[in-house]
Amino acid sequence: MIQSFNKVRQVKGTLNLPGDKSISHRSVMFSALADGKSVIYNCLQSEDVISTINAFKEMGCKIEINDEKITVIGAGINGLQKPNSDLCLGNSGTTTRLIAGILAAQKFPTRLTGDPSLSSRPMKRIIDPLEEMGANINSANGLLPIEIIPVDSLKPIEYRLPIASAQIKSCILLAGLFLDEETTVVETKQSRNHTEQMLGLKVIEENGVRKIYSSTRKYPNPSEYFVPSDISTASFFMVLTLLSPNSELILPNISLNQSRIGILTVLKEMGADIEFDKVKTLNGEKRGDIIVKSSNLVNVNIPAEIIPNIIDEIPILAIAGIFAEGNFVVRNAKELRHKESDRIKSVCENLKLVGLDINEFEDGFELIGKPNLNKVIFESYDDHRIAMAFSVLSLLMQQGGSVNNIECVNISNPNFLDQLSHISR
Ligand code: S3P
Repeated sequence: MIQSFNKVRQVKGTLNLPGDKSISHRSVMFSALADGKSVIYNCLQSEDVISTINAFKEMGCKIEINDEKITVIGAGINGLQKPNSDLCLGNSGTTTRLIAGILAAQKFPTRLTGDPSLSSRPMKRIIDPLEEMGANINSANGLLPIEIIPVDSLKPIEYRLPIASAQIKSCILLAGLFLDEETTVVETKQSRNHTEQMLGLKVIEENGVRKIYSSTRKYPNPSEYFVPSDISTASFFMVLTLLSPNSELILPNISLNQSRIGILTVLKEMGADIEFDKVKTLNGEKRGDIIVKSSNLVNVNIPAEIIPNIIDEIPILAIAGIFAEGNFVVRNAKELRHKESDRIKSVCENLKLVGLDINEFEDGFELIGKPNLNKVIFESYDDHRIAMAFSVLSLLMQQGGSVNNIECVNISNPNFLDQLSHISR
């Protein structure tokens, strides 16, 4: 479906957003592993999280979904059952990479499949460390489908992450939950830390190097999870508000985890008027209301260290960048090429349509000029974050704009269009 947008005149109001995607996946997984009943409030109910829920249902967990909560009867450490068929994980990289760590430790075989986008994303990055732990995994060229074949036992390893990736880190730590001896992940660049935070894992930080330890001692117990709202989802609405005249938006209960708020740091440095209210910590995760007001933005240097912290927000940050003074430049972000689409290419190709001069690099891009007045149809590349970023650009363009295959927003935020109409005039 092609979705058309007219230029927005003003953004106003309060917008309650769904639960954080990373925390929702983990809440479901940890609940499914625990022995007994857990309840998850404000869990994101999007296609990606449904992929996680369905995978555990197929392995025998009872999961009941209501509007305001999800109830999970977890299997316990030896309780997951062999699924009757392949586990089809849709578009979800987080489900695939995290669940692989859990499945490597099970006594039954599994086969993981995904949609065309997921089937083209690299899995060698998790297969290598799992094989180092003794797992038996078959895949063609390090891509899906992969088969995980049971082994007598895994062994703990110390693994230094070659890429800043919370998915690789979590995969290894989750396999480690099934071993009595400690498994260690060493991280030199911090990626999002929800797994260690939510499981209460031991973390030792020295000279900027973090060592994270997991073992059966940290195996999850049944719990109540209160998922904060998603800062990555919020960033689309924040940028729309910042760049619209006379606008103000309140986004309640947003995750303010320090490994996720790079987008706020960069936007504030660019001159964004962003404030916080009602900040508190629950389930080990900081959260609070974000208040955003119209602002004049200036492009700034984006340091390499912050890239893992803003990796999902770079497409929408680029949209902020083309309305800001100076040229927007991002480098050291090669990982963008391995997301739901090649996000460097997706951003550059779309921005060429509105007349920007673009220098594309292997690890980023430089955007020169301002969007022209032509009304264009942007391509979503079936990537939810590209679809939402270019919906925001369409809403900011004098003549409006359109986005092709907008349906992919269902991956992380099925109510995106309703939310836009709720706050924009
Ligand atoms: C995620 C980690 C990130 C992020 C993804 C969610 C997670 O991926 O891009 O959207 O929940 O662990 P990488 O760990 O591969 O960078």
